[in-house]
Amino acid sequence: MRIVLGVGGGIAAYKVASLLRLFTEAGHSVTVIPTEASTRFVGVATWEALSGHPVTNNVFDDVQNVNHVRLGHEADLMVVAPATADLLAKAATGQANDLLSTTLLMARGPVLFVPAMHTEMWQHAATRANVATLRARGGTVLEPAGGRLTGKDSGPGRLPEPAEIFAAALALTGTNPSGAASLAGRTVTITAGGTREPLDPVRFLGNRSSGKQGVALAAAALAAGARVRLICAHLEVPTPAGVELVSVETALELRAATLDAAADSDVVIMAAAVADFRPDRSSDSKIKKRDDVADPVITLVRNPDILAELVHERNARQRRQLIIGFAAETGDDHGNVLDYALAKLTRKGCDLLVVNQVGVDRVFGQDRNEVVILDRGGKAPLEVSGSKAEVAAAVVREIDARRTGTWPSDAASNRANAHRGPARPLD
Ligand code: C5P
Repeated sequence: MRIVLGVGGGIAAYKVASLLRLFTEAGHSVTVIPTEASTRFVGVATWEALSGHPVTNNVFDDVQNVNHVRLGHEADLMVVAPATADLLAKAATGQANDLLSTTLLMARGPVLFVPAMHTEMWQHAATRANVATLRARGGTVLEPAGGRLTGKDSGPGRLPEPAEIFAAALALTGTNPSGAASLAGRTVTITAGGTREPLDPVRFLGNRSSGKQGVALAAAALAAGARVRLICAHLEVPTPAGVELVSVETALELRAATLDAAADSDVVIMAAAVADFRPDRSSDSKIKKRDDVADPVITLVRNPDILAELVHERNARQRRQLIIGFAAETGDDHGNVLDYALAKLTRKGCDLLVVNQVGVDRVFGQDRNEVVILDRGGKAPLEVSGSKAEVAAAVVREIDARRTGTWPSDAASNRANAHRGPARPLD
């Protein structure tokens, strides 16, 4: 969806950079309009770089596009954060003297104000009256969080955490990226990225995983209300605010962290690209080129299959837990991608297997993905294509459907261009 993010002139503006990240990682297009004062806290370059769109608060920039009209009409949602006492007053009295205030008057979609200011300002009769006016007109004004404010003072007035604002914003539009899926009250552990298996202090065996799909899953699970633990091997993308992070490097470290986290997780998603093999030994010092001895030979030993172990543990302890695996496959002379994936689903015993076909330019590092979700319970395969955020949302819907025992309607799956039916072989 298209979001206009108005940024007010308060110190909490810096936290809004994380909010912007959450929106963009979930696949939304965001135009930021900072007030003049706010640019003293966070500069225009930050907003342009993070949003990927030009940023101004001047109605006289780009006049031919009549930006306040265009942005106001196009916005599916406007969020104002931090909504300072000044911005609340301007909005309540309909002032229109810059791009943000004029766009607020043009907006026809939902508007979310996220106040942040000192307690006295928040509790002042003028602010109370402005908030009441905005609410009476249908605007949503979040209650600020309590706690430490800019100086030594504390009390109500803190900007809520970006993840909370994100969830409130999506709830307001009814367009949670995962549709109506809710993982509220659930703990979801997700592994992401590629493991690195050391050869010596400077070299490792790695893989091409960027971690984008796993990170998108974390954002989608967070948006659906879950408590999210993200176990990160090597990632090339930033992680969303609001998730609990555990950083690991090797498959063995990832195994220990995941088995530990799984003990109290309702859902475990193994999106990490875990090395199947590691060098049998890692040299303590850098391996040297030497003319007087033969070149080294690397012997590989097999890493434990974490996914299979998770399933084994879950069954042994009779946990009510959903386990989802990923399969990055290529076909070969003996079978196509789906043949291999179905065999893997049976072998590993997980509940769902998200299958994609990989190659040097396919899937790894890309923003789009094309997957088939296979279900061990025998439901027809679900084909999903779209951005990694959309694929993540579809996976979250499938998880939610397993928990409630129902399947999402095709309509609910349409956003991610999902199609349930006999899966086409991917190659
Ligand atoms: O067997 P393969 O590596 O293709 O299976 C992929 C799935 O298994 C992924 O979900 C991956 O995270 C997981 N995996 C694992 N432990 C390994 C290798 C892969 O859990 N040693």
